Amino acid sequence: MAATVIDGKEFAARVRGQAAEHVAALKANHGITPGLAVVLVGEDPASQVYVRSKGKMTVEVGMNSVEHKLDVNTSQEDLLAMIDQLNTDPAIHGILVQLPLPGHLNEDLVINSIDPAKDVDGFHISNVGLLGTGQKSMVPCTPLGCLMMLRDHHGSLSGMDAVVIGRSNIVGKPMAQLLLGDSCTVTIAHSRTKDLPDVVRRADIVVAAVGRPEMVLGDWIKPGATVIDVGINRLDAPEKGAGKTRLVGDADYASCAEVAGAITPVPGGVGPMTIACLLANTVTACCRANGLAEPEGLTA
Ligand code: GUN
Repeated sequence: MAATVIDGKEFAARVRGQAAEHVAALKANHGITPGLAVVLVGEDPASQVYVRSKGKMTVEVGMNSVEHKLDVNTSQEDLLAMIDQLNTDPAIHGILVQLPLPGHLNEDLVINSIDPAKDVDGFHISNVGLLGTGQKSMVPCTPLGCLMMLRDHHGSLSGMDAVVIGRSNIVGKPMAQLLLGDSCTVTIAHSRTKDLPDVVRRADIVVAAVGRPEMVLGDWIKPGATVIDVGINRLDAPEKGAGKTRLVGDADYASCAEVAGAITPVPGGVGPMTIACLLANTVTACCRANGLAEPEGLTA
């Protein structure tokens, strides 16, 4: 039987709708408008596209969007001074420094200079520690989006076997923590894992986040398992015309969809959830900053 396709585009629109409702209530009941600041250093074209898209969606849900575009040669001192200013600005509830940063800047130092309460990426070492110890934190957007989709599809994840392929700080590790928090039995696999297909065959939930196009094959998948594909890889597609490309995930969609019970497509799966969860995190940060209840449906 063909797998259920988990529509991330539709799901992300639903999350943004919920965020917009919370924003409207914050304005009406408390006179507060959540504010998100995005800092972009340099002119990396992919980063510019991301930042534009973030700004547009922030405004669409009724929040204030502030963008700081800094010269590629900005010094670390100047960048830290800008973050310091945003940390103390009461109108700003979320701060995102777009990565990657130019090579002369120390990414860890910059991220760890953000007020953890405003760290809507969930990358600050304090948030990493809070998540790892099961405490209230800001949760990285992509894993949060994956968790929301899994909970929506399965209800409870308790007792399920989950394999996360990839051990990055941004996706693999926090994803594993979140699944553990929902009482899954979690394995983190990576490039050195022995007999990866066999490890993946045990999983009720497979999260593919390795950055290797179409690596996970259908015969690795336990029949009925759920495949969450975090990969976004651009491949040449000469069949579409000279110089054309196509996006593929880390899972071979055609073969996995024949065996899986449910699967996220690429594009239109996990991708749209990332910005939706950034907006959700900004609403969460704003509620916490003002001593208000956690916004329902938007947190881990
Ligand atoms: N660059 C690409 N994706 C992201 C993201 O989610 N957060 C940040 N800070 N930078 C990124």
